[in-house]
Amino acid sequence: MAYLWPIISPPEEYGGEAAVFVDIIYEKLGRGRCTLLELGVGGGHMLSHLTADFECTAVDLSPDMLALSQGLNPGVEHHVGDMRKIRLDQTFDAVLVHDAASYLLTGQDLQETFATAARHLRPGGILMVAPDWVQETFPDGWVYAWDRQQGGIEVKIEEVMVDPDPSDTQVESTYTYTIKKDGKVTVEVDTHLTGLFAINTWTSLMEGAGFSVELRPLPPNEGGYGSWLFIGVAGAN
Ligand SMILES: C[S@@+](CC[C@H](N)C(=O)[O-])C[C@H]1O[C@@H](n2cnc3c(N)ncnc32)[C@H](O)[C@@H]1O
Repeated sequence: MAYLWPIISPPEEYGGEAAVFVDIIYEKLGRGRCTLLELGVGGGHMLSHLTADFECTAVDLSPDMLALSQGLNPGVEHHVGDMRKIRLDQTFDAVLVHDAASYLLTGQDLQETFATAARHLRPGGILMVAPDWVQETFPDGWVYAWDRQQGGIEVKIEEVMVDPDPSDTQVESTYTYTIKKDGKVTVEVDTHLTGLFAINTWTSLMEGAGFSVELRPLPPNEGGYGSWLFIGVAGAN
């Protein structure tokens, strides 16, 4: 269903959040043209707002999503890979894990991803991690509906997000897509499992990977997503 991504969450909706990341990189690293690695780049919508300022490299698990990003960000080096495991033979000034951080389901996933980030940062480089929700702000039972249209396709989306078992670190979002194309209507239902961790878990596991950590609020995007941004400064490793 990757083809729906540019329709239901178009690149222009990422400009506000991207400006926050640009400001933080300039604040922490100065105004040079830094190198940036985005892990879990998806369709590259966020990245499309960063390529003018930074020398970017992108990773995603899904070849279909990565192909969307390659189309949108043609000058960027793209790699299919898992952010928990990938090893590129290169270090960067900054690593970004935007909303893809939400797809990390266990403490071990977090630890492995932070180890990947640490391996790909030069000493003093920064890691920015922006999960959609943290335990402290999670709105159990949240229902959100929106619609978008583009290129003759109309899509209505309803998302229902619940935490079936508060004793584990996973929650479920069920998306119902009503898609109208060429006068024909189809309905697709897709359930995503995402991770939910307390602020203290994010912070302490980042610290365990060698980062000094700072927490800042991230302004909500148009869908109301947006909670906290974890900024880690890499030590000399
Ligand atoms: C919501 S999309 C990201 C959208 C992106 N922020 C954008 O601007 O288009 C989440 C992405 O995370 C990717 N992902 C999930 N788990 C991953 C992992 N372990 N390693 C790499 N990518 C992962 C998925 O394939 C998906 O493309």
